[in-house]
Amino acid sequence: MRRDMNRDIALLQLGVGRVGAAVVHIIAAQAERWRERYGLNVRYYALADSTAFLTGKQTFLTPEAVRAALLAHENGQRFAEQSGAASHDEWTHVLDGSVEAAGDAARVVVLDCASGDAMAPLLLAARAAGASVVLANKDPLTGPLAQYRALAESEYGGSLHISATVGAGLPILSALAASVASGDTIIEIGARASGSLGFFCDELSRGVAFDQALREAMARGYTEPDPRLDLSGFDVARKLLILARVAGASAELADVQVESLAPQGSEALSLAEFVAAIPDYADHLAARASNARSAGQVVRYVARMRPDGELRALLADLPPEHLLARGAGPDNVFVLRTARYDANPLVIAGPGAGIGVTAGAVVSDLLRAAGVL
Ligand SMILES: NC(=O)c1ccc[n+]([C@@H]2O[C@H](COP(=O)([O-])OP(=O)(O)OC[C@H]3O[C@@H](n4cnc5c(N)ncnc54)[C@H](OP(=O)(O)O)[C@@H]3O)[C@@H](O)[C@H]2O)c1
Repeated sequence: MRRDMNRDIALLQLGVGRVGAAVVHIIAAQAERWRERYGLNVRYYALADSTAFLTGKQTFLTPEAVRAALLAHENGQRFAEQSGAASHDEWTHVLDGSVEAAGDAARVVVLDCASGDAMAPLLLAARAAGASVVLANKDPLTGPLAQYRALAESEYGGSLHISATVGAGLPILSALAASVASGDTIIEIGARASGSLGFFCDELSRGVAFDQALREAMARGYTEPDPRLDLSGFDVARKLLILARVAGASAELADVQVESLAPQGSEALSLAEFVAAIPDYADHLAARASNARSAGQVVRYVARMRPDGELRALLADLPPEHLLARGAGPDNVFVLRTARYDANPLVIAGPGAGIGVTAGAVVSDLLRAAGVL
């Protein structure tokens, strides 16, 4: 884009946690360069945390106000306690205000770095108005199919960008979308799509007991605060559903068959009770891992989609040279087998979680939404 094609973008960002704060920092550091390089003028209209929106009251937040709000948030002061706060219930005013400030809905980009789908109505209204939406948050994409489609397609313009939601920006979703759009036929998608389960299965395969492997995964920060969310396979199931929907499948979350690695009965415990009980689970999955070892194989938690409708997330025994078994513990691996990539499938591998790569993927998607990438 030429420098004289000045383009204003109004940002409305949901979530200023680990990923969201990193996104704000990247945008603050790059805004001047984007102005010079692309004629792109990116400004925040509003930020939201779980308590409220923070707005500039009918105008953009200044970079100083954004910095101060984030600093106060990091120091424990939620937006509801800061000046310029507007309740979540006022989301229509906030969205309308951003469109007015930008002069056109096509210049509004909503960045969802939150969790949960409480803000799905705002995202849907933004897309219906012709604004763009960028998601790190998987929840709005894994609700009912009709909601996914309403986010993906709007007859009024704008666009949806979701590369941070699967593989933390590894280019699997764009490769899949391009493959389908250009008339290729999917034969199978295989994925190792969880950093925490990748590490955990690596440890089990090396003979480490369940309790130690889990403690190590938790200590390294690979798991959710409640590690049962990882062990249940739920997060992998959501990623598989997103892959399937991007591939064109009319699937719902309930269509994914998920094998849980959580010890039986552990779901009934409180988090504190579960953590206290971890040493009792030393033998959990031990026979499974040792049988695989005896057969010269490794255990890996994998997801699989086939065009006949099969959507499965399961613990599999694989030979070490299998494409989904290779690579370091927490890395993600995606194997795309299509009519064009058949004998030799397309393999995309690398870090599939982490704040830096995820925030970077959100910002790249913002630049795509703004039309400069
Ligand atoms: N971390 C990763 O490697 C990674 C990779 C890919 C995708 N993601 C996804 O990225 C998202 C953010 O992850 P994170 O690690 O940054 O999580 P986090 O640190 O827990 O931050 C979540 C943020 O969302 C805010 N929030 C929660 N509910 C909200 C609501 N209804 N409206 C507005 N804001 C709300 C929270 O508000 P408070 O500050 O008030 O609590 C917090 O600022 C999640 O959906 C996660 O699954 C993360």
